[in-house]
Amino acid sequence: MPDLVIQEEKIIERILTLELVRVTERAAVASARLRGRGDEKAADQAAVDAMRRELNRLPIDGTVVIGEGERDEAPMLFIGEKVGRGGPNKIDIALDPLEGTTLTAKAMANALAVMAWAPKGTLLNAPDTYMDKIACGPGYPAGIIDLDKAPSENVRALALAKGVDPSEVTVCVMDRPRHAEIIADLRSVGARVYLITDGDVAGVMNTADPTTGVDLYVGQGGAPEGVLACAALKCVGGQFQGRLVFRNADEKARGQRVGITDFDRKYDLHEIVRADAIFAATGVTNGALLDGVRYEGGFVHTHSLVMNSATRTVREVRMKRPV
Ligand code: FBP
Repeated sequence: MPDLVIQEEKIIERILTLELVRVTERAAVASARLRGRGDEKAADQAAVDAMRRELNRLPIDGTVVIGEGERDEAPMLFIGEKVGRGGPNKIDIALDPLEGTTLTAKAMANALAVMAWAPKGTLLNAPDTYMDKIACGPGYPAGIIDLDKAPSENVRALALAKGVDPSEVTVCVMDRPRHAEIIADLRSVGARVYLITDGDVAGVMNTADPTTGVDLYVGQGGAPEGVLACAALKCVGGQFQGRLVFRNADEKARGQRVGITDFDRKYDLHEIVRADAIFAATGVTNGALLDGVRYEGGFVHTHSLVMNSATRTVREVRMKRPV
């Protein structure tokens, strides 16, 4: 009898994995209509509405722990919002209906609709602040990267493990003035710096996809995006460390509201995502990882990834349906 129960749970998990990608597909299609229109807010709102509508159709007792912001600043998919029709599946949800609002408004590469699910109470409730991040893909000895070491030292360690010169290591960094020192330090050892304008979930995920050529991700980006990137890396292997950045009293108060007490703590991947998770991403605009939404011959096409950390399964899903 217990076996049967386990099997039934597994079946539910499998069904839910495919439901997850349906949700990111809907969000991507909704926001894709607003690509290149110069209106970040409208594109984000379209993705939020679609994601929320789909989530509320599902047989889950879901709580948004990483969402659009706190209740007073986000009318929908705010942190703490309950989603789903209820039932025994108690799930923590991290979501970014449109990761790359500016990319979408400018019709630039790499915008995604992303979401991760994990059992209730197992995702870091990160506040809407920045996070210092470092990540590499799978296949390296544990602990090879360290947020507290200089970026150049991390490049040297990766180069040694790969058996190549540091000049053969490619590091993805967001193109921001705050990263000037990091970029100079990376270049001082000859590393190749791949600058992105936005979208560091994709930036981190690039490290786990050899076709992108990216070995390392370094820099400061959104903390919510850090949790989503960790969920993705947990499914494919890879290492990540993050430290929340609190620039003022207001940001510390945000941290306290979600239960952060140690403001200097360095988290590794398994402290950010503390149980097995499922993760889905659908391309909004074309990118290194995923194709964007495409309209052709009366059909809409999407391209997604859906991954499960328990089984390390990665599925690439292409959807086509009449518009
Ligand atoms: P949005 O989709 O919310 O615009 O976020 C895009 C993004 O580039 C994230 O990927 C990244 O973590 C964050 O913004 C960086 O923030 P900032 O633009 O302030 O450097």
